[in-house]
Amino acid sequence: MHTRERYKVCSGHERTNTMKGHLLLLSCVSIALSLTYHGVNEAGAEFAPSNLPGANNKDYAFPTTSSIDWFIARGGNVFRIPFLWERLQPSLNGAFDATYFGLLDSIVNHTTKAGAFALIEPHNYIRYRGTPIGQGVRHSMHRYPLILLQSVSTNDFKSFWKSLASRYADNHRVIFGLMNEPNGVKTEDVRAAMQAGIEGIRSSGANQLILVPGNAWTGAHSWFDSWYGTSNAQVMSNITDPLNNFAYDIHQYFDGDYSGTNRDCKNGWNTESVFGKLTQWLTQRKVKAFLSEFGFSQDENCYHIAANVLDYLEAHSDAWSGWTYWAAGPWWGDYMYSVEPSGNGVADQWRRVLSNYMKSNGSVPTSKSSTTTKTLNPTSESTTRQTTVQTTQITSSTSQVQTTVTAACSNHYGQCGGKNWNGAFCCEAPYICIFSNDWWRNAMFARDTVHYHSPEEQNEDAVGSDGSF
Ligand SMILES: *[C@@H]1O[C@H](CO)[C@@H](O)[C@H](O)[C@H]1NC(C)=O
Ligand SMILES: *[C@@H]1O[C@H](CO)[C@@H](O)[C@H](O)[C@H]1NC(C)=O
Ligand SMILES: *[C@@H]1O[C@H](CO)[C@@H](O)[C@H](O)[C@H]1NC(C)=O
Repeated sequence: MHTRERYKVCSGHERTNTMKGHLLLLSCVSIALSLTYHGVNEAGAEFAPSNLPGANNKDYAFPTTSSIDWFIARGGNVFRIPFLWERLQPSLNGAFDATYFGLLDSIVNHTTKAGAFALIEPHNYIRYRGTPIGQGVRHSMHRYPLILLQSVSTNDFKSFWKSLASRYADNHRVIFGLMNEPNGVKTEDVRAAMQAGIEGIRSSGANQLILVPGNAWTGAHSWFDSWYGTSNAQVMSNITDPLNNFAYDIHQYFDGDYSGTNRDCKNGWNTESVFGKLTQWLTQRKVKAFLSEFGFSQDENCYHIAANVLDYLEAHSDAWSGWTYWAAGPWWGDYMYSVEPSGNGVADQWRRVLSNYMKSNGSVPTSKSSTTTKTLNPTSESTTRQTTVQTTQITSSTSQVQTTVTAACSNHYGQCGGKNWNGAFCCEAPYICIFSNDWWRNAMFARDTVHYHSPEEQNEDAVGSDGSF
């Protein structure tokens, strides 16, 4: 284990600070990041699930390479890529659709060749054409031509995963997410299906990480509940992997009913009460979890909650391996949780919270001893906004030397970036840093439109090389 500095965050969460002398001068400070994976969902290929098979760029859209590159350049190292089982495998145990697989494969190739992980997952809620795995009746299509219900067995799921995993057995940057959000079935059936999925993957020779969800949309808050049947805590502990290379796949939203459908986050949110018991359960079992979905709107309360949750995961990296935010993707438009980068700037969820938890270097950690630091952006409440710019960073397994400079943030039209720029890469609220040319970036309103000369310029959008503003 490497050293873990503690800090006091700009946003007001109190922390023990073991680096007081160094940090008191700053309104924002650095800590070591411990989680292995940090990135975003790249949604789109699973859209319009009732239009089967549907057409690419009409009913659904695969993620863009420019979005993935944007996040990789800023430290993202994992992309969760949802797809639909029925689109990939139009009939059970049948061949994969070559076009749909080709599109999936090409985004997986791009992601993994760029050095990041591709977490692929059927976004199917434990169902195939509406029938839950382990249920359904096999009808004679002659006698009941209009009945679409068919049986879907755990063996069908096992064979699906065997086929898919065999294609990626040689790509060690692929992660297998067994299934999105099982719900509406018995927890015992979730366990049986997920166990079959693991067996399918391992029988293909693939040895990569597998993410295993529980029942009831796999929420942290309900892991111990019984309203949906036997609790996940009771049933999902009985999952085995011959390679012991799996993590529980957890989704957790911060709104009042934890559904991820509301703009407001929960009043009186308590991270410990949502994540504490599960974290203890993981630690006791010496297994990990991966938070593959959480999302929130542009709201101060949400920013505080999200930062608090990510701090919590960082502080419990013995139990948590990483996270992917919900969501980026090409078709979100003005969706309240979207962080898809665009010409209009960068989403505040990214700027205010997520960017602080990315390793500054997009490459994947090669050993457990590597450490990187993060800086925390000031919130708008801070009267003197300052930024921490890392000018030097030397990391090794035992020591870390870091030099920081601080500068005031830029006001309207002020410079906030560009080649050879020595000042702050941040702007006073409500401005954001907009690319003007290679040598100049200005503090502008987010709504000010920018005309980029090239996609490369657009990818450069507004952010300093250290990922801060
Ligand atoms: C992805 O990469 C693999 C291995 O290099 C290659 O065989 C495959 O054709 C690529 N897929 C696409 C769609 O380019
Ligand atoms: C796991 O569950 C299966 C199916 O209910 C059962 O047969 C098996 O004994 C259980 N194993 C453990 C270790 O509890
Ligand atoms: C990221 O860090 C690794 C290990 O320290 C280094 O080899 C690599 O060159 C860095 N990549 C970038 C883009 O800075």
